Amino acid sequence: MKEQLNQILSAALAEVKAAASQQTLEAARVKFLGKKGELTAILRGMGKLSAEERPAAGQLANQVRAQIEQALEQAQVNLAEAVVAHKLASETIDVTMPGQKISLGKRHPLQTVLHQLYDIFTGMGFSIAEGPEIEYDYYNFEALNIPKNHPARDTQDTFYINDNIVLRTQTSGMQVRVMEQQKPPIRIIAPGRVYRSDAVDATHSPVFHQIEGLVVDKGITMGDLKGSLEVFAKRLYGEDTGVRFRPHHFPFTEPSAEMDVTCFKCHGKGCPLCKGEGYIEILGCGMVHPKVLRGCGIDPEVYSGFAFGVGLERIVMQRYKIDDMRLFYENDLRFLAQF
Ligand code: DAH
Repeated sequence: MKEQLNQILSAALAEVKAAASQQTLEAARVKFLGKKGELTAILRGMGKLSAEERPAAGQLANQVRAQIEQALEQAQVNLAEAVVAHKLASETIDVTMPGQKISLGKRHPLQTVLHQLYDIFTGMGFSIAEGPEIEYDYYNFEALNIPKNHPARDTQDTFYINDNIVLRTQTSGMQVRVMEQQKPPIRIIAPGRVYRSDAVDATHSPVFHQIEGLVVDKGITMGDLKGSLEVFAKRLYGEDTGVRFRPHHFPFTEPSAEMDVTCFKCHGKGCPLCKGEGYIEILGCGMVHPKVLRGCGIDPEVYSGFAFGVGLERIVMQRYKIDDMRLFYENDLRFLAQF
């Protein structure tokens, strides 16, 4: 009996010592101290011993039980400590390690210049209007004095969703939308994407951006148009920028003009960039056609207005001397990071 107990003790201690997890520890407890455990079996057999043998054997059995219990308890504590120690070690933060570099994005050059335009025009009292890129033929053409058979439609072919709905070819339709909704005085710019059936090359894209401008009030004259657009050009390109207006034709303005600014490179002397002209064209403009005003319920005998349309890509290209429009849309970081 004594021998058996000592065997159980050393086997139990060895197993407890070797246990590397809560589960194996529990398995050892069940194996030796459980209901069907080895020590329990021995204790059950006590009854068969003689009255003289029983006290000594009982004492020894209890000692063995106590020792195994103590070993289990200690192992339990050790395991818990090991788990915490491991966790601490694996979660150590080395504050001297170099940080992870977060590369900050920035505005696309088109957006940068667009926001400069917002600043310039809101500074002159304009507000910003936005409208749909999928537009009714009526707003894109008809209401702008471009009926179905008008030759101006040839240069602005686009995707027709049906006979009445197109991808807008110009932001000029916003003039009509705004005039239908607001009473003069009106002072807005309307930026946005426009679409044309143009093949992609260095200076053409089937999707590009325009900024429309519209001012309607009593007594607005060509003088207001020229003054406002000259201020705009100087704010955008610098105070030493000169402007000139050339007569042109747009169906929805009368008279119409194109505005040129002095070449950024030669300042008007003439160079290869401006093809010897000294000037570079930047926008179309004119006095809002009486027919367009009338169509929006504004009496051209009482009110007059001017309008203009700027191609965003073009002015950004001139501004940063970018020679290929496709660079704007490729989103190559080597290009974008330069601005
Ligand atoms: N929408 C014209 C175009 O895409 C540009 C334009 C010209 C807009 C004259 C205007 C304007 O508002 O008055 O070619």
